Amino acid sequence: MTSLIPDLIPKHVAIIMDGNGRWASQRGLPRFEGHRRGVEALRRTIRAAEELGIRYLTVYSFSSENWKRPAAEVSDLMGLLRRFIRNDLAELHARNIRIRVIGVKEGLAPDIVALLDESEHLTQSNTGLTFVVAFNYGARREITDAARLIAEAVKAGQLDPQAIDEKLFASYLNTDGIPDPELVIRTSGEQRLSNFLLWQASYSEFVFTAGHWPDFGRESLVEALLHYQSRDRRFGGLSSAIGGVR
Ligand code: FPP
Repeated sequence: MTSLIPDLIPKHVAIIMDGNGRWASQRGLPRFEGHRRGVEALRRTIRAAEELGIRYLTVYSFSSENWKRPAAEVSDLMGLLRRFIRNDLAELHARNIRIRVIGVKEGLAPDIVALLDESEHLTQSNTGLTFVVAFNYGARREITDAARLIAEAVKAGQLDPQAIDEKLFASYLNTDGIPDPELVIRTSGEQRLSNFLLWQASYSEFVFTAGHWPDFGRESLVEALLHYQSRDRRFGGLSSAIGGVR
């Protein structure tokens, strides 16, 4: 079996956790059961990311489009987030994990906002894995909000339009201070980005896995990393085989 090259472990892996519903319906179970098992897969994946030396792990937990689902399912997903934070926050903190939340807080129930804020606040000085939860997140909204804030700063005379470059723009995104993901994984066979990290994934490698999210874990993560390590990342330059920079 091929083994991972420690020097080529990506610093940041982002995951679109897809297929909870299909996993459940294939087993004649309610969709909720797929989401519940999805949380278990998430726990395994956080653990594996820590062990493999990944520094940032971002997961797409609830997209701004997920509000279109039936109210009962939205409520189930909110309930799972509440339970996840209540049950796991102390342990994640004890493991030195720093939690960051990206997305829009507006429109969320006040107790959810309070739990998300508490998670970030409690763990802000931790130095281990940074676990980024994309919750009520949509990349177009994130980019539009950044553009508006920049326009307001220009209008107020605080920012010279000539100073607007990629670095400045990125500092107005929710992910300020977080390096771009080198690898984006999507489970369940779908091959699209679905409004996830559109700016940040400009140069990411994509690995699409066939299995559904509730079955994901260390083994699937290692497999995705092996695919990633076999790729030649050129960032628009030349292949490392002919003198480019890896
Ligand atoms: C995709 O499966 C998954 C989601 C929409 C939500 C991901 C949520 C979890 C893993 C559990 C929640 C965890 C936290 C911490 C909130 P799908 O329902 O789109 O599956 P389908 O495409 O097969 O229907």
